This record gives sequence, structure tokens and C-alpha cells, in this order.
Amino acid sequence: MPNRKPLIAGNWKMFKTCAEAVETAKQLMELVAEVSDTEVMIAPPFTALYPVANTVKDGQVLLGAQNLHWEKEGAYTGEISPLMLVSAGCRYVIIGHSERRQYFGETDEDVNKKIKAAVKHDLIPIFCIGESEQERESGQTFSVLDKQVKKGEERFFANDLKTLVIAYEPVWAIGTGKTATSHQAQEVHHFLRSLVGDLFGDTLATSIRILYGGSVKPENISELMARQDIDGALVGGASLNAETFSKIVQFKRA
Ligand code: PGA
Repeated sequence: MPNRKPLIAGNWKMFKTCAEAVETAKQLMELVAEVSDTEVMIAPPFTALYPVANTVKDGQVLLGAQNLHWEKEGAYTGEISPLMLVSAGCRYVIIGHSERRQYFGETDEDVNKKIKAAVKHDLIPIFCIGESEQERESGQTFSVLDKQVKKGEERFFANDLKTLVIAYEPVWAIGTGKTATSHQAQEVHHFLRSLVGDLFGDTLATSIRILYGGSVKPENISELMARQDIDGALVGGASLNAETFSKIVQFKRA
């Protein structure tokens, strides 16, 4: 049987000052103190990483960043390197979020380099993919995802991707209140797991965690998590409030 520990990850995007981030992290730590069967991760903005790392260091809440640059260091004004993220206490890094692709021109090639850099520095990449509304409506969902996965994971071996997490986030469901139905999500997750199997073999396909993201809330998490190929969630808006997020973390198991 696959042993995929569920992961509920909070993406705080460009929200919260340092003080607010520390306060929310403290509240979350208390609310999920008893949770051991699910991994909990929060990704505050860069400026709050180090103070939040100090806040969560004795608990089970893990820390992630929302982006990184692929170089270790260098003259790249405004960028943050994997080494810096590790030194700030990060374990995870979100890569290729649709907002990065849409507003900051991130390409599949950039995403590929970023995943490579994360793996090299022992950060766990959360590799985001997803189709737009127009792509879904014109029947291109699977071809778009196929391309994003193949390009993002180009020139990798199964061994490099042992820790990799995939996050399927349909762009039309992010921040819109429209969630994919659990049936739609399961259909895509199943497709993605088979694709990973074709590219890298069954062992990786069985062990890789695939998260769903896009308007996840306490009200819909349990139904999503009941599906066979959904191993967790990447949560935006509903992760900003500790109490709401802790309810998602403590979803009802089928
Ligand atoms: P949302 O965002 O939960 O606010 O829809 C998800 C995400 O962008 O990761």
C-alpha cells in the first residue's frame, strides 16, 4: 500500500507583516499541536521566514518559501537563493505557482531550473501546474498538464524527484471560490500519477504526493481528501487565518 503522508500547505502569498506572520504561526502551532498524521506547512512572505522559523522550531509546523532563484548566490538584485532559504529555516519551496507564471513571466524552463536548484539544496519542491479556464473549456486540460510536467521535470531522473510534491491548481479555481469537484480533481490526479509512472516508473508514481489547490476550505477538504489520488492541499486564502487553516489540517478521514 502506498504510504503517502498527507500534506496541507498554506501559501500566504503577499500577506502579513513579520508581527502578523509570527502571531498567526503561534496560533496555528497551538491549534495543530496534537496532529501527527498530517504534515503541516506554511509559506509566509520572504521577510517573515526567519522570525516564523524561530516561532515554529519546536513544533511540527514546517516552513516553506513561495519562490526561489536557481543560483546559489550572485548579482541578481531582488532574488533569493536556495541557500538563503535553507539558512532561514525552510524545508519546502513552492515553485511555478500560476501567479508567478502569469504576472512575472515564469516559464517552464525557469521552473525546471528552480526545481533542480531546490533538490540540490535539499529543499522539497512543491511543483505547481494547472490549466486556465479557457484551456479547460477548449478540451486542452490534459495536454497542458502533460507539457507542464514534461518540461518542468525535463532532464531529471526518478532519484532526483523522490521528495518532489506536485500541486495541481486549476487556474480558474484559485482565489475565485470555484473549486474543482472532487471528481474533476481525482481525474486529473490519476492522470498525473500515471504520467509520472510513464516517465519515471511505478515506484515514484506510487510514492509521489499530489496536492490539490484552488479555493480549498474547511467545507470541501474532506471530500477532496477522500479521493484516492489526492494527498493533500495547497491552500491560499483559507490559510491566512489560523483557525480556518487548522480545520483544513484536521479534515475528516474517510
Ligand atoms: P486559494 O489559492 O486557496 O486562495 O484559491 C490557492 C493557491 O494559490 O495556492
